[in-house]
Amino acid sequence: MTLNSSDREISQTSPYARRTRSVLFALTALATVLACGTDDEDEPDTDTEAAALAAYTPASMGTNANGVAFPMGVQNWGVVSAIARPDAMGNLRVLLGNDIAVEAARSGNINPWPEGTMLSHLVWGVEQNPDDPASATVGPAAFRTVTLMVKDSTKYAADGNWAYGRWGGEMLMSPAADDTDLMNRGCVNCHTESVADKDMVFTDPPTFPTQADIDALEPGANGVEPPAGILDWNVLGVARISNPNGQQIRVLVGNNTAVNASRAGQTNPWPDGSMISHFVWGAGENPDNGIDGALVPTGNVAAITLMQRSEARYAEDGNWAYGRWAGADLAPLAADADQGCVDCHTAEVSDRDMVFSRMGELPDLLK
Ligand code: HEC
Ligand code: HEC
Repeated sequence: MTLNSSDREISQTSPYARRTRSVLFALTALATVLACGTDDEDEPDTDTEAAALAAYTPASMGTNANGVAFPMGVQNWGVVSAIARPDAMGNLRVLLGNDIAVEAARSGNINPWPEGTMLSHLVWGVEQNPDDPASATVGPAAFRTVTLMVKDSTKYAADGNWAYGRWGGEMLMSPAADDTDLMNRGCVNCHTESVADKDMVFTDPPTFPTQADIDALEPGANGVEPPAGILDWNVLGVARISNPNGQQIRVLVGNNTAVNASRAGQTNPWPDGSMISHFVWGAGENPDNGIDGALVPTGNVAAITLMQRSEARYAEDGNWAYGRWAGADLAPLAADADQGCVDCHTAEVSDRDMVFSRMGELPDLLK
């Protein structure tokens, strides 16, 4: 499948969306029929479809025409995966999940995904990080889209047990009524035709450390403790790294101090107490995606990084201390190994309070 270069969730030329316009509002129509209490199965549903269409107006964070509501609080959901896509002029996506989804993804209980699962992308454009000395880091540019899949095998049985929603742009607008590509039906068709054997979900979530793994981490030789709460931290951004050792996907997360500062745009300087970490994975292609060159995290987490800010404790090192737990056993930094971290960060980005990454900007409505 080839996805074109417009700023859309899906292709304009998707064959799935095109041929199915007549059933576009099947879900809504069914719901309306049931709500009206009629049994008349011979009644053509064109009237109800037309009524549903007429009643639907795109709106900021508005319910989609199929009845799927905006996932309130999505920006605070847990991290499930991420993807760097070359289509649509390039985009970086973090896949987030509600508690049910995060629990299922991290314990591998995903075929089928449990009832009540909700999965959402936050989608950004892409931008080369100008401060990366190796010139090989691509980070998030302008915010584009929130997507949503909701699992309910009672309500959505006819559509493979899932319903789909989408909100685009800074105003998070629901799709236009005549935009068949972006309406439920196009989404349903592609997902059910491509990955029915994976419960309609393309993503194979990478392995995260468990809480027991995190609890077992040793402090670095410099005394920096592992980030105990990291499994619950909120997303700050995402990057695709290319270096001589290969490709990586890194999802940037932060403690509440850092996340609040990022949303408020108060990141130069970051407030004391900020803690910023990466989940780092090797990257590879997911053949199910059919998107050439799209990179997803693969395998076990390769490293967890940490920068924590304290003017009182770390003034000599530009106000930050550094930690990293890497390799199969997530081994901490050895003695003096953090000097390289300090040197590079303070030499290259002292004008950005030592932080290289551009955070993934959220629409104001989600801040
Ligand atoms: C032409 C096929 C196609 C269409 C149409 C499509 N998707 Fe997807 N979708 C994909 C692929 C491929 C992935 C995996 C790559 C990614 O995460 O971007 C995906 C991933 C997703 C995910 C993450 C869970 C998963 O399955 O990996 C969500 C949520 C999602 N799509 C929602 C939607 C919504 C909402 C629509 C309609 C507005 C839609 N999709 C339309 C192909 C499609
Ligand atoms: C040669 C320069 C260099 C060295 C050495 C280095 N980093 Fe970084 N670091 C970067 C760049 C570039 C980024 C942004 C790209 C990315 O996301 O990895 C970054 C990003 C980070 C981030 C995310 C916050 C930010 O600044 O963007 C953390 C946390 C981090 N590094 C920790 C470490 C730790 C811990 C070490 C030492 C083990 C280290 N770094 C060594 C260049 C360096």
